[in-house]
Amino acid sequence: MSSRAVTVEPAARVRGRVQLPGDKSISHRYALLGALATGTTTIDGYSTGGDCASTLRCLSGLGAVIDRQPSPAGTGLYVTITGCGLGGLLAPAGPLDAGNSGSTMRMLSGLLAAHPFTTVIGGDESLSRRPMRRVIVPLEQMGARIASVDGRPPLQITGTRDLRPIAYTTEVPSAQVKSAILLAGLHAQGTTSVTEAIATRDHTERALETFGVAVHRSGTTVSVSGGHHLTARQLTVPGDISSAAFWMVAAAALPGSEVTIEGVGLNPSRTGIIDVLRRMGADIEVTPTVFTSAEPIGTIRVRHGGFAVTEITPEEVPGVIDELPVLAALASLGGELIVSGAAELRVKESDRITSLADGLRRLGASIDERPDGFHVRGGRLTGGTADALGDHRLAMAFSIAALGASGPSTIEDAGAAAVSYPEFFTILDSLRA
Ligand code: S3P
Repeated sequence: MSSRAVTVEPAARVRGRVQLPGDKSISHRYALLGALATGTTTIDGYSTGGDCASTLRCLSGLGAVIDRQPSPAGTGLYVTITGCGLGGLLAPAGPLDAGNSGSTMRMLSGLLAAHPFTTVIGGDESLSRRPMRRVIVPLEQMGARIASVDGRPPLQITGTRDLRPIAYTTEVPSAQVKSAILLAGLHAQGTTSVTEAIATRDHTERALETFGVAVHRSGTTVSVSGGHHLTARQLTVPGDISSAAFWMVAAAALPGSEVTIEGVGLNPSRTGIIDVLRRMGADIEVTPTVFTSAEPIGTIRVRHGGFAVTEITPEEVPGVIDELPVLAALASLGGELIVSGAAELRVKESDRITSLADGLRRLGASIDERPDGFHVRGGRLTGGTADALGDHRLAMAFSIAALGASGPSTIEDAGAAAVSYPEFFTILDSLRA
């Protein structure tokens, strides 16, 4: 499936309304906390992506009872999870498979650190290349033992009921690392805190509060105390703004376009894309609607408004980390985009600086690679063949760039999109106008 090549024809414009499946980051967290809670949690609008299925698969292997159906509301899945209670996960019968999902592996490591058995957790070829020392170091300081070869998956985690609380300052801003430590800290005696140089997305903090756990925040430090039991909840996941980003960029790129995205998550730690797109020239209207399960939700309407020269600073990078490939796609069609302080892109599902530059160049773009970012100069794309190299966000970013090219493009490995957005190509065709 993931090796599927897709031909993307140019589009004059895109127009229409889009409803998105649930946010990937929030889906992972609701599932993880549901598995720790006492009672049955329901999650409506759960992400349909392969990554969030990996989290459910691992949690089933650890004793949570999980059922999934199509959502009655029509977007995403309706998941029920009967949790094992705090510290109550069971030793799995065999190794756990996190698939392509770094979030699953890193955040689950925080839970496994607190359970007194040994688990092996591995993943696919891409995940097996990704750095895990960033969770191994703090979780070992808390008392877990974690074996790996060179800090890469698979990890063999031996947890303990006697985790020590720590006060930890992360080396790279990472919501996954922050979350792994906080999830372990739920099981430690005393207060565990995490300090970040730049604040990252706060879905774990909000989700913990929703499940009844007190979270203390001071500047960029977040703390939780251990030993509080979680109560099962009825939850709704907002639409994924990182998936919305593809349609926002398509509308911003093609004159005469207008796309309205409904029910999308507007957590301020994720809305950097809106600010950057406005600076790049897009005409965007945001209407907050409801506040569900501790996450703000609203409607975003995007129209093409021209192109501008824009810079994304290192401080802004964590807030748009997953959107940088599609922002580069936009800049390849007009204006100019300079990004620095984004070396983290090199350790995502692929080296998202080299493979992004390579793929966009093959479509005709002018892009210079830098050690910690890139510089794209807009122009006329010809179309061509770009390889997503198994990376979902590259598959979708190249497809959006291809809409603005003068000729057709072939996106190799386009099936990778299913990791976060299986409906992507169907929606793409429905928006052509
Ligand atoms: C995520 C955090 C980010 C992001 C990833 C999802 C999360 O990763 O790139 O797609 O759900 O916490 P890092 O924590 O590695 O920055």
